[in-house]
Parts: sequence; C-alpha cells; structure tokens
Amino acid sequence: MTQRRILLIVSGGIAAYKALELVRLLKGKNIAVRAVLTDSATRFVTPLSFGVLTEDHVYGDMFDLKEEREIGHIQLSREADLIVVAPATANILARMAGGLADDLATTVLLATDKPVLVAPAMNVRMWHHKATQRNIAQLRDDGIHVMEPGVGAMACNEWGKGRLPEPAEILAEIERLLADGAASPPLLTDTTRTIVAPDLSGPTLYGRHVLVTAGPTHEPIDPVRYIANRSSGKQGYAIAAAAARAGARVTLVSGPVALPTPPGVTRIDVETAREMLAAVEAALPADVAIMVAAVADWRAADEAPQKLKKDGSGRPAPLPLAENPDILATLGQSEQRPALVIGFAAETQNIVEHAKAKRMRKHADWIVANDVSGEVMGGATNSVHIVTANGVEDWPDMPKTAVAARLVQKIADELAGR
Ligand code: C5P
Repeated sequence: MTQRRILLIVSGGIAAYKALELVRLLKGKNIAVRAVLTDSATRFVTPLSFGVLTEDHVYGDMFDLKEEREIGHIQLSREADLIVVAPATANILARMAGGLADDLATTVLLATDKPVLVAPAMNVRMWHHKATQRNIAQLRDDGIHVMEPGVGAMACNEWGKGRLPEPAEILAEIERLLADGAASPPLLTDTTRTIVAPDLSGPTLYGRHVLVTAGPTHEPIDPVRYIANRSSGKQGYAIAAAAARAGARVTLVSGPVALPTPPGVTRIDVETAREMLAAVEAALPADVAIMVAAVADWRAADEAPQKLKKDGSGRPAPLPLAENPDILATLGQSEQRPALVIGFAAETQNIVEHAKAKRMRKHADWIVANDVSGEVMGGATNSVHIVTANGVEDWPDMPKTAVAARLVQKIADELAGR
C-alpha cells in the first residue's frame, strides 16, 4: 500500500507543542507528515522542531516567493490524503468558518477538496462562547470533522472543556478517517470537475456534458461465477479522458476494469448491464453519449443463490440465459436522447456493412466500427471506421488514445457546426 500523507496545520496556542508528539506518533505508523505553521504558532514552537521531526521543509509564509515557486498552496493540499488542524485555536476555526484565506494555512484549507479534521484547543470560556459554537456548527455542517476537546485543567489555571484531545486520540481519529477517507463528505459544492486545463484551441466541448460507458459487464451466474468478456476499458477511458481535456463535464459509467479514473472525470462503477443502463439513465441529460462498453448481450436468467454443483451425470449443464437491455438502443430512442449518440461495433467480418445496419437498428448517429479479429481487445491500438449518415471514414491503425483524441475533435466540430 502507498504511504499515506498528512498535511498538519499547527495554529498558535500553548498546546502547539503537543503537535510535535502527534508528528512522532504518525511517523511511528509510517504516515508521512508535512507541517504548515501559522505565524502565531511560531511564537509557541519553532519550525526547526517540526522540520527535524517531519524530515521535510516546514511551510509558513504564503508570500514567500521561493516557497510558492517550489510548492504552491494548491500543491500542498493535492499531495495530502487528509488535512489535520491541531491544535485548532478559536481564531483559526473562526477564519475557517468564515471562509477567510489570509495566510497560508487558511488558504490551503479553502482550496482543498481533501477531508479535513480539526482538533480544537482553547480556553474553556472561548470554547463555550456562542461565536465559537456557531463556528463549530458551521464547520460540521460544511463537512469538516471536528473532534471534541478534552475536559481538565487549563494552562491558564482554569478548569473545563477546551483541552487539545490527546495526541493518541487524534492519531486514532486520523487512522479512522484514512481508512474510509473516500466516504468523507466533500467540501466543495461542485465536485464534478477536478482541475484539468482544457485545450481551448479550436472547437471544444466546454460546457457540454459527455456520457461515456466503458469496460465489460459482469453478469452473475451464482455467488462465485459470472459471464464476462475481454474488454479492458482502455478505449472508453481514453475517450473520457480526451473529452475532459477538451473541457467537457464527463460522466464515465464503467464496468469492472483495472484502470485509474482519468483526471476531471466523474466515474460511476457498475457490474451488470442492467446497473449500467440505470446509471446511464440517471446521468441524463447529456449532450453527447459515447457507448463504448462491451455490454454482455445475455445474463443468466436466474442468479443461483448458492454455488452450482456438478451432478456427475456428464450431461451439459443447463444455463438458461435472458437477454440484457440494449443501452445504446434504449438511449437512441429515449425522450432525453442526447444530441449526438455514438455506438461502437466490434466485428470480426463484414465490418462496415454490419456497422451501417447497427446504426439504423440502434438509432445511433455514428457507429465507430472496429475489427476485433486481431489483438484489439486489451491491446493499445485500434483501426476504426466511422459510419455516419454521410458515409464512412476509414481511419488508419493508431493508438487508442489517438483514436480518442480524433473522435473527440470530430464531436466538437460536429456540435460547433450545428
Ligand atoms: O450489438 P453490439 O453489441 O455489437 O453493439 C455494440 C454497441 O452497442 C456498443 O456501442 C455497445 O456499447 C452498445 N451496447 C449496449 N447495450 C447492449 C449491447 C451493446 O449499449 N446490451
């Protein structure tokens, strides 16, 4: 497993020294830590101590040009799995709740899409102040994980709630969040796009919603077996990636594949054809649909609740099949039909003739026909023919990424010309 990474933001309070103990505990668990200290934190602890313990540069001043050049505030957040503010003073909680970005720490916190955990520490009356409680409620509502402070003696000779939770407790909370980090509520109101610089030369898909299916489907026979095919998902993923690069909002409905989600793409994982159809319909409306998935035509008519056993008779096993819904054909006739519906046709003979018939039968605008008699399935290149109402274009054999880029360009040209 890859090493997990914490960005630790230390704000200024007497409990700041306990953050050093937290770093030590995290390192003991092989979790990497990078520290950001607020100005006031440096009045209580030194960057040098954090530098020694984290074995990394310690970040502080947003306007340090050298730091911004080497690693900007966006990068600090991007390289972390989780951001932890410990100790979090009443002041930084107020700045976070208000969405301020007036130093490096709060700028990172406003620019992040990573889960954030805060461990408050302050005087008991500051904790119970209505303003602080209002800020805490706001932060929780925004999706930030706020730990309860401890109760006990304070540095200021008072007693009550407001002590920094023990470093071991913070560690336990960090480990819990890292284990189910993906389940954290997003802090951003629009998570449909991450940052991909679109290529804006020539026609683009900026502002368009592109829906792509990719990969095989798995159709269960019994709890341990399924019907599948050799589709790797590479061509569909390349198309989704190219559409995102062209500026589109992309929804990728994917069968089971071993591929990373392309940057800027919202991926919905499904297993069966019926799940894929439901996910496609839920993703509508879309401007363009590109159905690249190798959907299983049939599924087991009834999924056996228990593993099927051999009966020793030597007779062929009965496996009744039922036909799956045709997603492309359904979409082609849907009331919410996208302006451009594109299907794929994997053929081993009479490629173009079959593709022409398929275009009509499935109510598609274009069919991208490819010859799968060779090594196309799982391979890196593809030679395709684009069948449209205007005729057939034969494209030379090229990498699947190049097919994707050229197809996306053709789509952008088509939409621009309408
Ligand atoms: O009929 P055939 O499977 O060759 O059609 C291929 C095209 O139809 C592809 O675009 C594929 O994604 C789509 N298809 C579908 N649902 C099915 C079968 C195929 O969307 N059940």
